[in-house]
Amino acid sequence: MAATVLTVASTKGGAGKTTIVMALAGTLAAEGLRVAVVDADPNRAYASWAEQAYEGPAIAVRAEADEARLATAIDELSPQSDLVLVDTAGFGNRAALLAMAAADAVLVPCTPSRADVEQAAKTLELVDSAARAARRAIPARVVPSRLKQATAVSRHAVAELDAAALPRTAAGIGDRVAFAEMTFSGRVPSGGDAAQEVAELVAELRKLGWLPPKPKAARARA
Ligand SMILES: Nc1ncnc2c1ncn2[C@@H]1O[C@H](COP(=O)(O)OP(=O)(O)OP(=O)(O)O)[C@@H](O)[C@H]1O
Ligand SMILES: [Mg+2]
Repeated sequence: MAATVLTVASTKGGAGKTTIVMALAGTLAAEGLRVAVVDADPNRAYASWAEQAYEGPAIAVRAEADEARLATAIDELSPQSDLVLVDTAGFGNRAALLAMAAADAVLVPCTPSRADVEQAAKTLELVDSAARAARRAIPARVVPSRLKQATAVSRHAVAELDAAALPRTAAGIGDRVAFAEMTFSGRVPSGGDAAQEVAELVAELRKLGWLPPKPKAARARA
């Protein structure tokens, strides 16, 4: 069966795309899913982390920022994967648009700032354009990202997403030392609040049908 393709995109740089890809890929690989990541960002942030820092169950990684080859890279990883995650660059670029067009669903991380909320709306419009061009539905949701726990600005940003009627996940990702540390240690949080947030996002995405089912215990790796 072909893999599920989940693209993480935002026209705004630094929204937390790569962080969410790292956390989802590591967490789902630890469940026993066969996870592949296509790094479509020419800066190769995910790919170099995977090469130099990542510690955990195997994840197939391809760096492919050339939009002419991106869909082929996704297709080539698909037969031997349950899930292909695509990390994209944080600026208007054709590879990101292609990654949206190739996706079963798109996640749009959005930090609590006015500029980010505006850019999230713009990114959702791009997904909509890709869906029209492809003549199929490509569902997308904003993922509130880098939330400062219980601060007015975080609450305000989430309220703005809702006021603008932007579809979003109920699960959000907090601004946490554990996520920043992951970029150095190579270890995806496996306990504590950070891991709990990722688990809640995974559960919500599964309910939406945007992730493959959890593998049976026999295949799951610790
Ligand atoms: N939830 C979080 N908690 C703590 N730090 C975070 C979190 N999300 C992102 N960061 C930090 O913010 C910076 C930018 O995050 P990240 O690289 O994930 O964003 P991005 O959207 O991939 O950026 P780009 O558009 O440049 O690819 C990184 O230093 C990262 O460690
Ligand atoms: Mg990135």
